[in-house]
Amino acid sequence: MDRFVIEGGVPLRGRITVSGAKNAALPAMAAALLSSEPLHLTNVPRVRDIFTMKDLLQHMGVAAEPADLQPDGELKLCAERIVRPEAPYRMVRTMRASVLTLGPLLARTGEARVSLPGGCAIGARPIDIHLKGLEKLGAQFTVEHGYVNAQTKGLRGARIRLDKITVTGTENILMAACLAEGETLLENAAREPEVTDLARLLRSMGAQIEGDGTSTLRVRGVTKLHGTTHRIIPDRIEAATFILAGAITGGELEVSNCDCEHLHAVLRQLEAAGLTVTKKERGCVVVARPERLRPADLTTKEYPGFPTDMQAQYMALMTQAEGTTRITESIFENRFLHVPELVRMGAAITVEGRQAVVRGRTPLSGAGVIASDLRASASLVLAGLAAEGETTIDRVYHLDRGYEGFEGKLRAVGARIRRAAA
Ligand code: EPU
Repeated sequence: MDRFVIEGGVPLRGRITVSGAKNAALPAMAAALLSSEPLHLTNVPRVRDIFTMKDLLQHMGVAAEPADLQPDGELKLCAERIVRPEAPYRMVRTMRASVLTLGPLLARTGEARVSLPGGCAIGARPIDIHLKGLEKLGAQFTVEHGYVNAQTKGLRGARIRLDKITVTGTENILMAACLAEGETLLENAAREPEVTDLARLLRSMGAQIEGDGTSTLRVRGVTKLHGTTHRIIPDRIEAATFILAGAITGGELEVSNCDCEHLHAVLRQLEAAGLTVTKKERGCVVVARPERLRPADLTTKEYPGFPTDMQAQYMALMTQAEGTTRITESIFENRFLHVPELVRMGAAITVEGRQAVVRGRTPLSGAGVIASDLRASASLVLAGLAAEGETTIDRVYHLDRGYEGFEGKLRAVGARIRRAAA
């Protein structure tokens, strides 16, 4: 198991380029199951979750090329035949997004056997809303030995209102609805850019979808989808993580190849904290930190609100603000696992229920800490970059699930960070 060793205190300067979005690439890959023709994706990030999804699709009989993803992020998938419509536990356990294959498998083959994901570090994360939606489309489920066995004699469009906004739930139902007979109206749908990117991809495969980017999706089912080429959007969470890395080190970092529109809530929050964010050119922002960082309270929300996937990193930044910040996590019930680790580094944070209170400014000092999930790992790296002395972060495999070449990109802008075998 690898660890990171960071020598903090260097302001980051220069330009850093954002990769393709993991959370857009995963549903896009699952969408390959909807057609017997090839799907050609570009800007796919080379991160662990993508390799897991590729293995899963190959297990189902999908042809994938190249065997190893190249820096240009090209990936060709062809589901000419689906031989095993199942997502085994060993794969779902390492990546919950495996559940994204459920809708496409049902729509294409009429059956699916997908392991239940179980809990995860940041919360219970059930899939009841996915199942309820697919049931409305005409799927039947039994749960046995930890697996959901799904069957349908043919999906039919329906009016579905999600009880709660769910990103992968919206994606799963959307993909299934594309091949259902008749019209589906999906209400209270997620509006995340990753959902919109999926809708854009499905449309270019021949699907008839309207309303993406709003909370009501209208899908007119078609009998067949065809192959296409699609470029994955830039990763807004990676972009925002780097913006905060520049800010917490007091440097001046240009973050390029990002979509500023997708970063709206994050940039607004940073401005409230006193940072100057300049849009330099298309797809490039520069962030500079003032002498004093202001505390600015935060509540995570579904898009277009502030993303839960940036809460941990923002908390690291707020340890350096002059005053008290209240951070409320409204999406996941247990997404504060980074708090005790940040406290070990000198932060003053208390948690009560879904709210963390950060009392700044406290100097951070390097320490040995443990990463607990993907975004918590990123928050610890940010803290390590700002800390005095050496920080070691164990279990960086969490970070490798979703950030492409993270330490290399940071090193190129001056960070003293290296990977070591633990
Ligand atoms: N929920 C239910 N029932 C369901 C589905 C969701 O109760 O059937 C609850 C969840 O437990 C949670 C809330 O609804 O409390 C929202 O969860 P959502 O379903 O939107 O999360 P997700 O689709 O499983 C995606 C991202 C996450 C990101 C969340 C929220 C992917 C592959 N994952 O997860 O990304 O945090 O949306 O924006 O798109 C990450 O990249 O680090 C990550 C965790």
